[in-house]
Amino acid sequence: MTADEVQLPPKPANLPHPDYHTPRSVSPLESVRAAGLEYPDYTPFKLANLTLHPFTDRGHHADPSKSRLLSAATEIIHLTPDIGTELAGLQLASLTPAQKDDLALLVAERGVVFFRDQAMDVHEQIAFAAYFGELHIHQMAGIIPDLPWVHPIYKDHTAVNGRSHQIWHSDVSYELQPPGLTMLRMDTLPAAGPGGSVAGGDTIWASGYALYESLSPKLRAFLETLEAKHSGLEQAEKALKTNGCLRRDPIETIHPVVRTHPVTKWKTLYVNENFTKEIVGIEKKVGHALLDTLYRTIAEAYEYQVRWKWTPNAVAIWDNRVTFHTGIFDYCMSSYLVSGVLLTTEVPHLRHGLRVAPQAEKPYLDVESKTRKEDLESRNALKQ
Ligand SMILES: [Fe+2]
Repeated sequence: MTADEVQLPPKPANLPHPDYHTPRSVSPLESVRAAGLEYPDYTPFKLANLTLHPFTDRGHHADPSKSRLLSAATEIIHLTPDIGTELAGLQLASLTPAQKDDLALLVAERGVVFFRDQAMDVHEQIAFAAYFGELHIHQMAGIIPDLPWVHPIYKDHTAVNGRSHQIWHSDVSYELQPPGLTMLRMDTLPAAGPGGSVAGGDTIWASGYALYESLSPKLRAFLETLEAKHSGLEQAEKALKTNGCLRRDPIETIHPVVRTHPVTKWKTLYVNENFTKEIVGIEKKVGHALLDTLYRTIAEAYEYQVRWKWTPNAVAIWDNRVTFHTGIFDYCMSSYLVSGVLLTTEVPHLRHGLRVAPQAEKPYLDVESKTRKEDLESRNALKQ
């Protein structure tokens, strides 16, 4: 292997378009289309159903101070008190294994960590993410034909379909082992009108730790007794109707409503409006009312949210177990008033990025675990 080659996971059999190979250092957005293929590609192919597999979080190998990573950054910018940190002066493709372990802990603690101007192509991105766990292949989303572990985020005015934002969610929570650290790199972004600066298509994350600890002790104690059904069925049905692309048998999975992060040992709220369909074992009406209340709490808790303004080749790495997120669809007008000048765009704006998601552990609740606040307060008491 030369220095330019990167180690990719073994490819599944029966991938579509076996003769297509994504070239290095080019966005698949260009290279797939240049090869005359649809992008993202929805050619159906079958995968084995997922089964439980061992997982060890790389954060267990971190230095608690995370100094191997943080000392290499030129600046550490905490974007809000509860969630979101930007690290400047680092190139992810050059991190050592020890620095990646520290990063796993930092992401687990801060929920989401951001990097700008990453010189990293899609092959390097896959190799980077594969360090943290077995990469997820989506049950129905379009793919890059030879790199099925990448979930292309491709949203233009047609994808937006009149909505102002996505539903708050945690990615593919219906899976047996939903993703933990999840990595998104944006390479194409909308602008404020033709010739305008990059604007629009921000993403917002919310902290599950902070939301959970903001609830009353009585409600938290009740939530800890509950499990919920997460379903991939609706998404699968929609896919079958629109493009016939379904790679595995769709599933419904029962997960605890409150889960423990295996490294921080903090409790987090684990229900989301996209995929959580019902609370198990209580009246449907009561369960739905409870879920609706929790979804509203997630959406309206501005003090536990961080909004990230993308720039080309910025990367976000979030812990999908302890955060919720939503993309903002605010870039679909054809006319903009910018600095008093009316600008009209001929070509609709496009927002494009590449997501790679290593699967984590099967969600569990350790009743001995604490909320983040309880843990930090007990550590503080020990110091005194
Ligand atoms: Fe998402």
